[in-house]
Amino acid sequence: MTDFQTAYQQYKELVDQALANYFDVPDAPHHVLLDSMRYSLNAGGKRLRPVLVLAFCQACGGDIHAALPVACAIEMVHTYSLIHDDLPCMDDDDLRRGKPTNHIIYGECTATLAGDALQAEAFHTILSADLPAEVRAECARLLSVAAGIEGICGGQQLDMEGETKALSREELLEIHKRKTASMLVAACRMGIACGQGSAAQIDAANRYAEAMGLAFQIRDDMLDQISTEEELGKPIGSDAQEQKTTFMSLYGLAHCEQEVHELTEQAVEAVAGQFENADFLQALALSMEVRRN
Ligand code: IPE
Ligand code: IPE
Ligand code: MG
Ligand code: MG
Ligand code: MG
Repeated sequence: MTDFQTAYQQYKELVDQALANYFDVPDAPHHVLLDSMRYSLNAGGKRLRPVLVLAFCQACGGDIHAALPVACAIEMVHTYSLIHDDLPCMDDDDLRRGKPTNHIIYGECTATLAGDALQAEAFHTILSADLPAEVRAECARLLSVAAGIEGICGGQQLDMEGETKALSREELLEIHKRKTASMLVAACRMGIACGQGSAAQIDAANRYAEAMGLAFQIRDDMLDQISTEEELGKPIGSDAQEQKTTFMSLYGLAHCEQEVHELTEQAVEAVAGQFENADFLQALALSMEVRRN
């Protein structure tokens, strides 16, 4: 393993271990709801958003153990968004993180409630963390922006309205900015908030996350066509089935590769010289350019 891969694995293990401890109350009367939340939360996943929280916190000289609840919180919101995204009324997918989707196992009502509860519990987790009150408030504010109308919900609404009609590049960018990049912006900014970083570092994090976020969704749309179900852990061809306009349907594979490459270079450039050590952040952006799942 490269130094980058080892460091990523260490961050990810911290997150995986911390997440495993949430909502573990087997004899609770509503344990089916808790089981379904834990089913999706602990199903795996790359943990990109929590790793970004910890990495930006560390890059600012902060304490990553204090930031761990904040990292877990953004993964709770992300997991909720995936549970709802897979529902029959949305993308209607039956495989996620290599397992049957939440509603396939627990039914649509429990899956809906599990998503709702994960979102609320994310804010509870941040607001209960052992961090200064102003840091908790800023993290909750950042996460609320990414989850709300200028984030996931607004983006998913536009994504849904865009089904079956031809979208322009500008319209697609509006969707990707909200449904995907907003959460990466929140992750990086929450890490800076935990590490009490400077205004210049916030600015660098915004530019890094906006570029990486767009690259991330273009790569997701590419993988929906060029990967396999086994490698991806989710169905392929889902976008075409839902008749979505994507960067792939607009421009094709070669152009998408080029665009992801340029955005990755922008992300690498954005953090250069802004932190005592930006090696991990830059290697992370480069690894996302060629990710296979
Ligand atoms: C999938 O996110 C949804 C998108 C925003 C494209 P990830 O690719 O980060 O999914 P996991 O968390 O690794 O399963
Ligand atoms: C969903 O985008 C992004 C979310 C906000 C959940 P996709 O619908 O492309 O995500 P996947 O491909 O199902 O993971
Ligand atoms: Mg979707
Ligand atoms: Mg989907
Ligand atoms: Mg997709």
